[in-house]
Amino acid sequence: MADEASTLARIPRHVAIIMDGNGRWARARGLPRAAGHKAGTQNIRPVLEACVEYGIEVLTIYAFSTENWGRPNQEVRGLMRLLEQTITEQLPELHAKGVQIRHSGSLERVSRSLKNKIQEALELTKANQRIILNVAFNYGGRAEILQAVRRIIADGIPAEEVDEELFTRYLYTAGLPDPDLIIRTAGEMRLSNFLIWQSAYAEYYSTPTYWPDFDRAELYRALQAYAARERRFGRLENR
Ligand code: IPE
Ligand code: IPE
Ligand code: MG
Repeated sequence: MADEASTLARIPRHVAIIMDGNGRWARARGLPRAAGHKAGTQNIRPVLEACVEYGIEVLTIYAFSTENWGRPNQEVRGLMRLLEQTITEQLPELHAKGVQIRHSGSLERVSRSLKNKIQEALELTKANQRIILNVAFNYGGRAEILQAVRRIIADGIPAEEVDEELFTRYLYTAGLPDPDLIIRTAGEMRLSNFLIWQSAYAEYYSTPTYWPDFDRAELYRALQAYAARERRFGRLENR
């Protein structure tokens, strides 16, 4: 892995992944969608570990969107249960490994017990330094921007003080660098309301591989593609 990392000219500080294709992964195997979500959840840890080895500072994962409430009740309930179980099972080890867990999203509509679990995870790991695992859960980019606007108004901030820097401090991702690389699995070519403010200059990478099958080799290919991009930020060359 160290060798692989040294072959990459540039490593992104912040990688964000739209973990898509759990349902299709399951269907291809004749399994219920829930089995796909389970396999997808189990895939988070190895990818996180690979990110640590590459020296990535922040990994954001899109776990549940504000639009995903529109899925059948049974699936939504299953996803909520899975998240709660996963935190319970994995929190001690994530903490021992120095992972700082953050949440980007709203806690509205979330059950009290899951809310408590999330808060426990954030509180326990807040001083950890190895890598930040930012979980975009009950996250929507438009909802995030709206809550920022509302809080800015509620705080009585005068219009002339509202600039990009201030606005960024009101987002769920306050304090995190913008994503450098956004990876979407399962082939779709859209953001689905993910980090729409923060991704203004992110590099975008899509792979047909379903999320449960996205492994270290896939991550390496995404990082290679990223290293080969020329980021100009509107200027003429990247100097
Ligand atoms: C992504 O997989 C997980 C969530 C959105 C929670 P999907 O459930 O969207 O899988 P597909 O897109 O139906 O294959
Ligand atoms: C995006 O995937 C949300 C997550 C991965 C959590 P979706 O499967 O919900 O997105 P659409 O419906 O294909 O846009
Ligand atoms: Mg999907």
